[in-house]
Amino acid sequence: MTIPSVTLNNGVDMPLLGLGVYAPQHNSEVQQAVEWALEAGCRLIDTASAYGNEREVADALRAASLPRSEVFITTKVWDDDQGYDATLRAFDRSLEKLQLDVLDLYLIHWPSSPHRLDTWRALEKLYADGRVRAIGVSNYYQPHLDELIGQATVVPAVNQVEFSPYCYLPDVLAYCRSKTIQLQGYAPLVRGEKRNDPPLLALAEKYNKSTYQLLVRWSVQHGVVTIPKSVKRDRIRENLDVLDFTISDEDMALMNTFYDNTRVATDPREIP
Ligand SMILES: NC(=O)c1ccc[n+]([C@@H]2O[C@H](COP(=O)([O-])OP(=O)(O)OC[C@H]3O[C@@H](n4cnc5c(N)ncnc54)[C@H](OP(=O)(O)O)[C@@H]3O)[C@@H](O)[C@H]2O)c1
Repeated sequence: MTIPSVTLNNGVDMPLLGLGVYAPQHNSEVQQAVEWALEAGCRLIDTASAYGNEREVADALRAASLPRSEVFITTKVWDDDQGYDATLRAFDRSLEKLQLDVLDLYLIHWPSSPHRLDTWRALEKLYADGRVRAIGVSNYYQPHLDELIGQATVVPAVNQVEFSPYCYLPDVLAYCRSKTIQLQGYAPLVRGEKRNDPPLLALAEKYNKSTYQLLVRWSVQHGVVTIPKSVKRDRIRENLDVLDFTISDEDMALMNTFYDNTRVATDPREIP
């Protein structure tokens, strides 16, 4: 299976569909999940220092022994490590755990820290030094992006936010597009919370797909990079198997109306 890529604002290609590795019950599940995903053709892995499983991701990469250029690895700097020097140190720790010389994408995990602009300067330094191929943010809506872009030398390549039909904010998508920032969506499956939602079930039946596949496909058709998480082999394959059908324009528009602000994480609008 070949998963299409998007080209970021600095020319780097990023797969449109990948695997998230947040919060499995046991870290030991992560290595196996990443191995299964790589085996199934997935080339984008989304981790974070806060997930505590960068070493397990590294173990899976080593076991798969794919050429380094074929995989795209994202990690993130956590709130406790924000600030210029602390971020540089956190990056070194992440790289050591991931056993990489160069990271593909480094994100500020949340805009919660008062030091977030200094954190961004550290990311710019890492980028200028060639230690990371692209830098970006996560959980940034327009006020935080405006603040950042007002000060930044480098425009973020990616903004990772919660993105599903139930948490669909077209303004955020349009704003990021207008600034050449690629949107990446997390919790595309709403952690299974909506699997029995009648309108979603009806569409899944119509397309002869699972509700999970329909949710992944909806993100992909919006051109939003998406990273469904599973530690089960059949589910990992199911979530990747969404490239052989198209949701009609009419049904995309219908899914866009499912918005009810259901979220698995904090609403960034609550962060000053
Ligand atoms: N930047 C941020 O602040 C942030 C926040 C949250 C998440 N993320 C990233 O986004 C990734 C995805 O989000 P998420 O993990 O929160 O939620 P998600 O991908 O929406 O849902 C994951 C849940 O759905 C289950 N699942 C997956 N595929 C399934 C299928 N085909 N059938 C039935 N159940 C299925 C998984 O269980 P099993 O594993 O048991 O299959 C897991 O409980 C994370 O792993 C993380 O990398 C980022």
